[in-house]
Amino acid sequence: MACPFKLPIPGERAFHTISRFRSEGGPVVRVELPGQVPVWAVVAYESVDEVLSNDGILFSKNPRNYTALNDGTIPADWPLRQVVDGDHLLTKDGADHRRLRGLVNRAFTPARVQALAPRIQEMTDELLDRMAEQGDRVDLVRLFSEPLPVAVICELFGIPHDERKQIRDWSLILLSHETTPDEAVKTGGDLLAYLAAFIERKRGAPGDDLTTALIRAQEDDGDSLSDSEMVGILWLVLIAGHETTVHLIANAVVALCSDPAQLAMARAENAWDRAVEETLRGRNSVINVMFRYPMREVRVSGVTIKEGEPIMVGISAAGTDPARFGEHAERFDLSRDQEPHLGFGRGPHFCLGAPLARLEARIALSSLFSRFPDLRLDVGADDIAYVSSIITEGPVSLPVLLG
Ligand code: HEM
Repeated sequence: MACPFKLPIPGERAFHTISRFRSEGGPVVRVELPGQVPVWAVVAYESVDEVLSNDGILFSKNPRNYTALNDGTIPADWPLRQVVDGDHLLTKDGADHRRLRGLVNRAFTPARVQALAPRIQEMTDELLDRMAEQGDRVDLVRLFSEPLPVAVICELFGIPHDERKQIRDWSLILLSHETTPDEAVKTGGDLLAYLAAFIERKRGAPGDDLTTALIRAQEDDGDSLSDSEMVGILWLVLIAGHETTVHLIANAVVALCSDPAQLAMARAENAWDRAVEETLRGRNSVINVMFRYPMREVRVSGVTIKEGEPIMVGISAAGTDPARFGEHAERFDLSRDQEPHLGFGRGPHFCLGAPLARLEARIALSSLFSRFPDLRLDVGADDIAYVSSIITEGPVSLPVLLG
């Protein structure tokens, strides 16, 4: 079938490309990706909701159900294979997924997230202090939005202070678009080996942290959680919770600084929670959630999709769908009715870290703008360079004047 839509388009942000698919192609379109057979993209609120709500019923996340991956059509060195084909929560369905997620939920409780709030505030303040020492013009990504999430995850895991720099260096390599596949494999291996050894150390020296809580959940459950599953959970939390939050904070700063009236409203009404939700809805750092595979032939918004054909789920395009959010859906508007959005997904795979991401982003924004009341962008919003993968997108750097 001819494929009029392609991703990526040089010079166009993936965020805009995917929204354009919706306005030019409709709720479900066929898309060409580099090194891949064409995939389906669902890009309207209703179709995204329809797919996510049927996870595990009509749609699988298990790569076993991905026909082209298993019949040799997709080459062995396809760069996304590692992500799509990994053994973690995001590639499991039904009972397998429920078992693992239930165990993680027992450890990753709302109380554990709330207890982190004072430490997140301290770490935020430390970063802001250090940023203030760098002069008036700084890169907000390098000095603030990028270091904060990895520091928070290290705190959550209970990683000792003198090992945190190593974790940060590894995750920067894994997240950099300049990393070669060989470097990524080597660094991924080092990180997994570190996490396995770290879990062993925690068994002998428990603390008040997620790793210890997971070890307890494992013991309470008669050791049904294997050691490699434990490593996989920590690995996924680190990967899933890092870049998403870096970009979310930066995207929110861009949105607020680009519209003084919105920033004034956020300050006057202390509406940082709303600023976070509005960013998740209409400026999300997650553009697509990775593939779903129909377990039999299905129809999505009237389009027939065959069993095993990969579907990309465009949650950022769902957030800017005028059919759901009105004529001005593209606008960042803190005064709009806070309708539920799909920024953290929906259904069984709904973001496990949503409460932490929300807390962290709120503390980051409120502290940043109260510490630097005159903060402004030192680059035109249209001149900001973005780094995109098929899943996330955010500013490479963000020059600001602290005022
Ligand atoms: C899953 C978004 C931060 C951990 C997801 C999903 C989305 C999402 C859309 C669903 C994926 C799917 O359906 O395929 C975001 C955004 C974040 C964020 C926008 C920040 C702004 C975090 C943080 C953590 C985290 C901070 C952990 C500390 C996870 C995990 C899953 C997940 C473990 C997999 C859940 C499962 O499959 O059951 N996230 N996330 N995320 N997220 Fe997040």
